[in-house]
Amino acid sequence: MSDHLPAPDFDAQSYERPNQKWICGHACEGKACRLGPDNNGHCGATSECAPVLETKPGETKGRWRCTRPSGACESGQLPDGKCCRPIARCAPIPTLRTRRGRLTRWVVGATVAILLIAFGGPWRGRFINPGALSTPHSGDAFKRLSAGQSRFDQNCEACHTAGDSGPSGLVTAAFQSSPGPFEIEKLARLNIGDMTALDGSCQKCHANHLLHQPGVSRNLSCSFCHREHRGPGRMVASTDSNCAFCHGDADAILSATDKSRDTKGAAALPVHAVARNFASDHPEFRVHTQKLRDTNTLKFNHALHLTGETIPKLKSGEKLSCGFCHQADAGGRHFRPFKFENQCQICHSLQFDPETPGLTLPHGNPDFVSAFLHSLPRQYADFAGRSGVTRAAEQSQFAQERLQRLQARVGLGEDFEKRVFFSNASTGPDRQVGGVRGRTPALYPGCAYCHEVKPDAVGKAQITRPMMTERWLAGVEFNHLKHSGIACVKCHQAGKSRETSDIILPAKQTCAACHSRSGGVADSCATCNTYHAGRRETAGR
Ligand code: HEC
Ligand code: HEC
Ligand code: HEC
Ligand code: HEC
Ligand code: HEC
Ligand code: HEC
Ligand code: HEC
Ligand code: HEC
Ligand code: HEC
Repeated sequence: MSDHLPAPDFDAQSYERPNQKWICGHACEGKACRLGPDNNGHCGATSECAPVLETKPGETKGRWRCTRPSGACESGQLPDGKCCRPIARCAPIPTLRTRRGRLTRWVVGATVAILLIAFGGPWRGRFINPGALSTPHSGDAFKRLSAGQSRFDQNCEACHTAGDSGPSGLVTAAFQSSPGPFEIEKLARLNIGDMTALDGSCQKCHANHLLHQPGVSRNLSCSFCHREHRGPGRMVASTDSNCAFCHGDADAILSATDKSRDTKGAAALPVHAVARNFASDHPEFRVHTQKLRDTNTLKFNHALHLTGETIPKLKSGEKLSCGFCHQADAGGRHFRPFKFENQCQICHSLQFDPETPGLTLPHGNPDFVSAFLHSLPRQYADFAGRSGVTRAAEQSQFAQERLQRLQARVGLGEDFEKRVFFSNASTGPDRQVGGVRGRTPALYPGCAYCHEVKPDAVGKAQITRPMMTERWLAGVEFNHLKHSGIACVKCHQAGKSRETSDIILPAKQTCAACHSRSGGVADSCATCNTYHAGRRETAGR
């Protein structure tokens, strides 16, 4: 009950007429008149009473009667029936309500004025800016790309289309936006990561950044991953949770996979398993799960060359090592493609006459090889010339002798040429030396020793060009330079590979030994994967 009573210090005086706009100016003297001011703050007081004319029955002239509430006054009325005690008019006082109302209107007005000045002024960029822009978006390259000269010299309009318009333009833009400020229902239903007009601006400079993977059913807003206005330096990097938004959601990935199958036929895109973390649930590399094979037709046996007893040491006395064949490219990221002349010729010289080891077949175009074989007398004579035999007669005699002996051993002519191209014998005939019987090296390790050689319609040799796959991990930017402290064999067990078709790549677990929380090296999705599959060189990059 007690809270319904006025507080002990409640001063009814100061809060009289709480629902009126004005109180009587005499209220502070405790003599407020009951009539009170009107709604416009005018004092309506005239005199203490309004005499009434009373006419008794039978009388023609009536009598004025005083109606003063505190009792009739002695002096009575004036002859014209007006009260003789006029009241001094007061200056009505605005109530608290009125003063509050006035203050509110003033504050609103001042705010609008300040906003108009702020939004229209040249310093407005600093005024509205929610935070400094990243360095790439405040540099000269950015200014050059953003079309036109900004009125406000801040280039806000490069991203915010209304950025260069005045206050009215800003208001128009706000009302034309989608969803608009009053589309409460739409605003409430907005999905996280939905595309907005702002994303259209990003793509003006960064084309081809929309497509992630074919089959992805939903384009995500750039700002979902790239946050601007977070201060100078690079833009805040995308996090794993951005990727897990879809990749942590089996349904999202599976439905996308189904969709890409629908459009591209079965086995279009492999099912990309759920992955939230590299070390734990990231799928094994596809080269392993799909048991991919290297389709290069060049024959090569790493195990033999790295561990074989028969492999000679290099001139330096060292054993053949990875670095002899795989030399880092200019950036150190990957390895230069090798050349027969640099990596193989030193041991596989393409000699065909063991008696004349210095005379070798040319490597490469089979037509040149064929032409060489059809001009053997001249080749021998030239070889003699290069070896110091100066007289022409002696050179041709040298050529004849060697050719005869070669003829006796292997038989020359068409058949010889065929064998040079097509013989893939890696060993010669068995031979008895003392008590040991063993295989001898091939007599003339021909082109098919290393290559796939096929006859064409007329029987001419066609060498299938060796195709070295440059990248095995699709979409991953591996960098050897950053792993130069690690032995090659830790990742590539080359010493165990006997076939070219082996793909000597490490399993995921090898990488996760370092790239994991326990390994201490970066293990975010973006360390290895690119998000922007469809990206090409664009204006900005
Ligand atoms: C490189 C593009 C880019 C430029 C240039 C840019 N902004 Fe933005 N701005 C954004 C993005 C993106 C967002 C959304 C921020 C987010 O969601 O993290 C944003 C948001 C805003 C917001 C809304 C604040 C909020 O927290 O939602 C204001 C205001 C703003 N920018 C003002 C400016 C002003 C002023 C300038 C010029 C000095 C400017 N922007 C220049 C990209 C830009
Ligand atoms: C007027 C052209 C322009 C617009 C519009 C623009 N950018 Fe850029 N952006 C650039 C330039 C220029 C660079 C710097 C390129 C460089 O350094 O090679 C850059 C760099 C970037 C980078 C790499 C920066 C880093 O720190 O690694 C990202 C990410 C990026 N922009 C995202 C966005 C997003 C998101 C938007 C839309 C909100 C956007 N950009 C709008 C021109 C633009
Ligand atoms: C909007 C949802 C979505 C987001 C967000 C997303 N992805 Fe994907 N991603 C997909 C879908 C769908 C596929 C295709 C799956 C399939 O068909 O197997 C895919 C495939 C991939 C692939 C495999 C490409 C291939 O060759 O199979 C990689 C790598 C990838 N995403 C990396 C990322 C990274 C890194 C991020 C975070 C920066 C990310 N994704 C964020 C939906 C998304
Ligand atoms: C005598 C030259 C030679 C030496 C020495 C050599 N390689 Fe190779 N390597 C090749 C040739 C030829 C290929 C291409 C044919 C093939 O794929 O087997 C190749 C391919 C590779 C590939 C590509 C993936 C693949 O399987 O196709 C890797 C990785 C590789 N070598 C690693 C090594 C490592 C590690 C070493 C040292 C332990 C090494 N190689 C030593 C010649 C050599
Ligand atoms: C240091 C010397 C040396 C180098 C360099 C060398 N090889 Fe060999 N290679 C040999 C020897 C020796 C044999 C024969 C081994 C045997 O039969 O026991 C051989 C055998 C081969 C064979 C037959 C393998 C087999 O399984 O029978 C092929 C094919 C071959 N090498 C290809 C190459 C290619 C391609 C290169 C250059 C990328 C190359 N080699 C570089 C020394 C070398
Ligand atoms: C010891 C192994 C070996 C033998 C034997 C060999 N090659 Fe090659 N050949 C290679 C290697 C390694 C390459 C790839 C590197 C290069 O192009 O130098 C190659 C590449 C080629 C190419 C492609 C060149 C290009 O530019 O793409 C042709 C053509 C070719 N060889 C022809 C021949 C012919 C003809 C013979 C027989 C006379 C022969 N090769 C014998 C190892 C060999
Ligand atoms: C940390 C593991 C790791 C180490 C250490 C490593 N590699 Fe690799 N290597 C890889 C991966 C992963 C690829 C596949 C890259 C791709 O496909 O983009 C690769 C690819 C290659 C290739 C194929 C062609 C190319 O240029 O990418 C060759 C050749 C190769 N490595 C040789 C070597 C040699 C030689 C060494 C030692 C000096 C070495 N690697 C050390 C992981 C490693
Ligand atoms: C012995 C530890 C170790 C192993 C094993 C290892 N890495 Fe790394 N990796 C590193 C270090 C250290 C860095 C440099 C990190 C940095 O620069 O911040 C790195 C960097 C990288 C980068 C970033 C390169 C760049 O351009 O910034 C990629 C991608 C990468 N590693 C992939 C792999 C892959 C794939 C494997 C497995 C084939 C692997 N790593 C195995 C230690 C390792
Ligand atoms: C799901 C997260 C995600 C979304 C959405 C996203 N990006 Fe990226 N973006 C990345 C990641 C991660 C990188 C780092 C390099 C990479 O993975 O390709 C990157 C790199 C970039 C770069 C710098 C490197 C380059 O490729 O030039 C630019 C510019 C860029 N993004 C622009 C955009 C634009 C424009 C959009 C919107 C159309 C967008 N991004 C949407 C995750 C995202």
